Amino acid sequence: MRNKVSVIGSGHVGATTALHVAQKELADVALVDIIEGMPQGKALDLLEAGPVEGYDSRLAGSNSYESTANSDIVVITAGLPRKPGMSRDDLLLKNAGIVKQVTENVAKYSPEAILIVVSNPLDAMCQVAKHVSGFPRQRVLGMAGVLDSARFRTFIAQELKVSVESTHAFVLGGHGDTMVPLARYSTVAGIPITELISKDRLEAIIQRTRDGGAEVVKLLKEGSAYYAPAVSVVEMVESILKDKKKILPCAVYLEGEYGISNLFVGVPAKLGRGGMEEVLQINLTTDEKAQLQKSAASVQELTQVLMQNGYLK
Ligand code: NAI
Ligand code: 2OP
Repeated sequence: MRNKVSVIGSGHVGATTALHVAQKELADVALVDIIEGMPQGKALDLLEAGPVEGYDSRLAGSNSYESTANSDIVVITAGLPRKPGMSRDDLLLKNAGIVKQVTENVAKYSPEAILIVVSNPLDAMCQVAKHVSGFPRQRVLGMAGVLDSARFRTFIAQELKVSVESTHAFVLGGHGDTMVPLARYSTVAGIPITELISKDRLEAIIQRTRDGGAEVVKLLKEGSAYYAPAVSVVEMVESILKDKKKILPCAVYLEGEYGISNLFVGVPAKLGRGGMEEVLQINLTTDEKAQLQKSAASVQELTQVLMQNGYLK
């Protein structure tokens, strides 16, 4: 039985995600978008890359949701990306409408699927997807922590002139300006970076991580990052489909963990065939807890706006 991954929104992140899913032969891919011909064209182009790259994944594009039926995983990238000077939160109501409509459709055709939300503002969009789908929390996840941690790892590796492969990092909290890069749990070859990098340099690296998305937006001038986001999604897809049970930072609907309830916030989670199989609760210092609470509060503010506008109850 072949796995099936549907990717809704065939723009920069969606199409790049489809490419990597196919290259790794993780699944057949259904690409969907509202732009006529675009998902069909991209899927055909990706299919024709198969003989050169040596993959047999089948890819098909469509403007309707029948093609997504019985997906194992649905990745939601539909929405508007940030423009320079625009915060992720500016996207809130526009993308809430899109994610609501997308979720209704994917839940109808794939009631057993695991949803991985990418559209921004990430944590709030996860909240919409969970509410609209009615899926249990194990099957609604958001991608942000893998990307934010990858950015943190990039800057750690640059600072210490070591391979990125020797680095490990954790970024918790919401995918926004209040995200919490956890230096104490970030290591190079198992050594905490707090022992390897001076306090001042570490502070600068942490701030660059928080600003990582905006740094790319500023350079691109149009649109936002997609190579690193797409491979981050695919790491989650792979862990789920292969039941690898990787511990990855993901946006998860918390039910009391870390003292937070009924809210999507980035925390370490075990990803396997059942989706989000466990939330790992790590010990945090008083300061780290305060930072996580602050980040959760900023997600909560967005959910309140969504409630006032009828997107959440
Ligand atoms: P993009 O503009 O290249 O692609 C978005 C696609 O969604 C477009 O092709 C558009 O036609 C499609 N779309 C719009 N409304 C739709 C609907 N109702 N149904 C189906 N498709 C629809 O944007 P990009 O760069 O791919 O980013 C997508 C989203 O992901 C943005 O909201 C962006 O902010 C977010 N993002 C989140 C990241 C994260 O870490 N969570 C990282 C990178 C991007
Ligand atoms: C990023 O962090 C735009 O959220 C997106 O690159």
